Amino acid sequence: MPGVVVVGAQWGDEGKGKVTDLLAEGADVVIRFQGGNNAGHTIVRDDEVFKFHLIPSGILYPGKLSVIGNGVVVDPRVLLEELDGLRRRGISTRGLRISANAHLIMPYHLLLDQGSEARLGKLQIGTTRRGIGPAYADKAARLGIRVQDLLDEKILRKKIYAAMEPKRQLLRPWAKDPQLDLHTMTEEYAQYGHRLEPHITDTARLVWDALDRERLVIFEGAQGTLLDIDHGTYPFVTSSNPVAGAACVGAGVGPRDIDEVWGIAKAYSTRVGSGPFPSELDDELGERMRVAGGEFGTTTGRPRRCGWIDLVALKYAARINGLTGLVVTKLDVLTGIDPIGAAVRYLGPEGASFDEFPYHQSILHRATADIEEVPGWHENITQARSLDDLPQAARDYLDYVSEFVGVPVVCIGVGPGRDQVIWTEAGKRFEPVAAT
Ligand code: GDP
Ligand code: IMO
Ligand code: MG
Repeated sequence: MPGVVVVGAQWGDEGKGKVTDLLAEGADVVIRFQGGNNAGHTIVRDDEVFKFHLIPSGILYPGKLSVIGNGVVVDPRVLLEELDGLRRRGISTRGLRISANAHLIMPYHLLLDQGSEARLGKLQIGTTRRGIGPAYADKAARLGIRVQDLLDEKILRKKIYAAMEPKRQLLRPWAKDPQLDLHTMTEEYAQYGHRLEPHITDTARLVWDALDRERLVIFEGAQGTLLDIDHGTYPFVTSSNPVAGAACVGAGVGPRDIDEVWGIAKAYSTRVGSGPFPSELDDELGERMRVAGGEFGTTTGRPRRCGWIDLVALKYAARINGLTGLVVTKLDVLTGIDPIGAAVRYLGPEGASFDEFPYHQSILHRATADIEEVPGWHENITQARSLDDLPQAARDYLDYVSEFVGVPVVCIGVGPGRDQVIWTEAGKRFEPVAAT
């Protein structure tokens, strides 16, 4: 089982960072394959909290490779801040590798992201405003600037000029902004290049090497399936593919290199930003989940929208990603909520009913969720470490979700701490040794 993909099965913030950190203990390499610093992955260790935006969640283990793959868009300012932050906390960053082929987020990408959201007004996507969309747009337009370009100032200057020229009109409001000056920007980015150079390499080769030696490689996804630009709730999505298939493209391996695909899902649902969310609870119960689950964005601090688990969407995520295992996180947050609801189909206007996730946006945008209720529990479960420690109603809820989705539960989260997990029979072989 050398290749394991960890993906978000909902709208992001499912707890991918924590799961990756747990799996990383037995791995040689952890590689991020898409997204950028729109991600915010939290790891809690002995009451110390780490929030990563770009650095893969394997960095806390000395001696392992933490890799930023070619599919990621890198804001070098943010990356260096993150590296400095880790060093200040005494954490070695020697294991970091950055793909020479990854694309860069440039100052104009941030401005274009802000400008585009402002123009959309009420119709805005609610992006993280980190320049992600414009950076991927430049990549597709073949105007992107890659990490390797940082290492040759002459090439860098030419490429920045070529990329900014067609954007002149859109960038007019910032025409006098000193950070958009060609000379200043080239100098600034060349400096970043100097600092990052020891980490820049051909990362696909590192992954092949580990896989060829039968070592465990974790492909760490960002965002979630419903935010996928092809398979999510377009246009209210991110600009990359958070689904498992993208792990191959964004890391440089083939489908046969992937052995397991774990989908991470909360025991309920959350979403940040705009877009359809049929099982949303825009009421006191939703507020209760927000408070109990600490549902405020890791990257932007925005309150997350909360709702019941959406089994229609989760089943779709299971199929799109080819999930072999389901990790249900934040089960503890549901304690005291009785009964618990679950969206089992969508209802449209005029009595229409949808058992499958609808592809058509007009249906999706107007869909309401048909909620099935199951019994809840009242016991504190944060100390549970085996299925037997859970109340019957909690076990039944997990079985109910797993059966509906058709994927075995491999691991359950009962609190933010590293030890606050339950490994099921199906997931046991991945349990970190230190936790046993
Ligand atoms: P990611 O983006 O998927 O890595 O998730 P985030 O880090 O953005 O959000 C997940 C939040 O839930 C973080 O604050 C985690 O510390 C926390 N968390 C993860 N698993 C659990 C769990 O099982 N229970 C509780 N209460 N919190 C959890
Ligand atoms: P992690 O990896 C939750 C959302 C934004 C917005 C949409 C597009 O922590 O799960 P973008 O800045 O990507 O162009 O914004 O996607 N979004 C996330 N929501 N978790 C994330 O990452 C997200 N990254 C982007 O809120 O709705
Ligand atoms: Mg997050």
